[in-house]
Amino acid sequence: MSKTPSPRIFSGIAPSGVPTLGNYLGALRNWVQLQAGHDCLYCIVDQHAITNFQDPAELREKTRIMAAILIACGIDPEKNILFHQSAVAAHARLAWIFNCITRVGWLNRMTQFKDKAGKDREAVSSGLYVYPNLMAADVHAYHATLVPVGDDQRQHIELANDIAEKFNHDYGVKFFPRIETLIPPEAARIMSLRDATKKMSKSDPSDQSRINLNDSADTIALKIRRAKTDSEPLPETIAELKDRPEAINLLGIYAAVTGTTPAASLMQFAGSGFGPFKEKLAEALVAHLSPITAQAQRLLADQSYIDSTLQSGARRAAAIADPIVDEAERIIGFLPRQ
Ligand code: TYM
Repeated sequence: MSKTPSPRIFSGIAPSGVPTLGNYLGALRNWVQLQAGHDCLYCIVDQHAITNFQDPAELREKTRIMAAILIACGIDPEKNILFHQSAVAAHARLAWIFNCITRVGWLNRMTQFKDKAGKDREAVSSGLYVYPNLMAADVHAYHATLVPVGDDQRQHIELANDIAEKFNHDYGVKFFPRIETLIPPEAARIMSLRDATKKMSKSDPSDQSRINLNDSADTIALKIRRAKTDSEPLPETIAELKDRPEAINLLGIYAAVTGTTPAASLMQFAGSGFGPFKEKLAEALVAHLSPITAQAQRLLADQSYIDSTLQSGARRAAAIADPIVDEAERIIGFLPRQ
C-alpha cells in the first residue's frame, strides 16, 4: 500500500469535559487554521475519555457539546472530517496490535500516566496505562503525518513514532510513516488559574481553575478576578517575571487572545497592579470567546444535526482507515476479513 501523497493532519480531543481555554489556545485554534490547504481529521476521542469512569448520559452530552464547540470554533465538518472515535472500529483494531508492539518499559516512562495515576497507580484502569497506544493508533490508522497538539502531548507522539519504527522493523516493512507535531510557539501550555504549576485541564475538579468554552461573560470575569496572583506590580520586562508563574500565565493568555506578544503586553501594564490588567484580560477573553459560545448554543439546539454530522464524518474516516488497518493486519499475518 502506498503512502498518501500530501501530508494528512490528524488530531483528537477527549470529551472528558467541556473544552477549556487551554485546549483552545494550545490546539483548537491551530486546528481551524490548518484547514486551509490540508486534509484534516479531527476526532472526539470518547474511547480515551472512558479510561476514567464517565457517567453514560454525561458522556453522550459532553460528546455533543464538544462537537458543537469545535464547529463553533470554525472546524468545517463538510470540508474536513469530524467524528467520534468509537464509531470507527479501525482505531481499536490497530490499538490492539500496538499493545503487542509497545514495550512495558516505554509506557512506564509516560509522564502523563504518572501525573494522572498519582499515588493510585495500582487502582487506575489498565486503559489509562495503554492509552498512548490507542493514541498512536488514532494517527497511524490514517497514515497521518502532521499532528497539531499542545505541549503536553509531545511525549505521546514521540512514543507513536517509536511504535511505528518497531512495527516497521519487526515486519521488515516501511508501512507507518513518521509523525511530526505542530506545537504553537506561544500558549502551548496554559496553566490552571488556581495553581500555575498545573496545566489548565477540563477534568480538574475545580471549575475555578479554568475557563470553559461555554462559560458566560459574567463567569469569565469572575474567574479572572479570582485567578491567583501575587501582590507585586507588573514589571517592565519578561525577565523580571521569572519566579511569578501566575503572572506569566495570565500575560501569556492576554497576549494570545489579543494577538500580541507577552513582552508587548507587559509594556502596556508595567507598573500597575493586577486589578486593571485582569479587567482588560476579562474583556479580551469575553470578546474573543462569546461568539463561539453563542454559536455552540445555537448548534446544540439541533441534536440530530450534531449526531448526523459525526456519523457522516465517521463513515468518511472509516473509508480511509479501514484499508490501512486491513493492510497492517495482513502484514502481521492475520487472514483477510472477507
Ligand atoms: P486533551 O483532550 O487533553 O487535549 C486536547 C488538546 O488540547 C491541548 N491542551 C492544552 N494546550 C495548552 N494548554 C493546556 N492547558 C492544554 N490542555 C490540553 C492538548 O495538548 C491537545 O492537543 N490524548 C489527547 C487526545 C488525543 C490525540 C490523539 C491528540 C487522542 N488521540 C491523536 C493527537 C493525536 C488528549 O487527551 O488531549
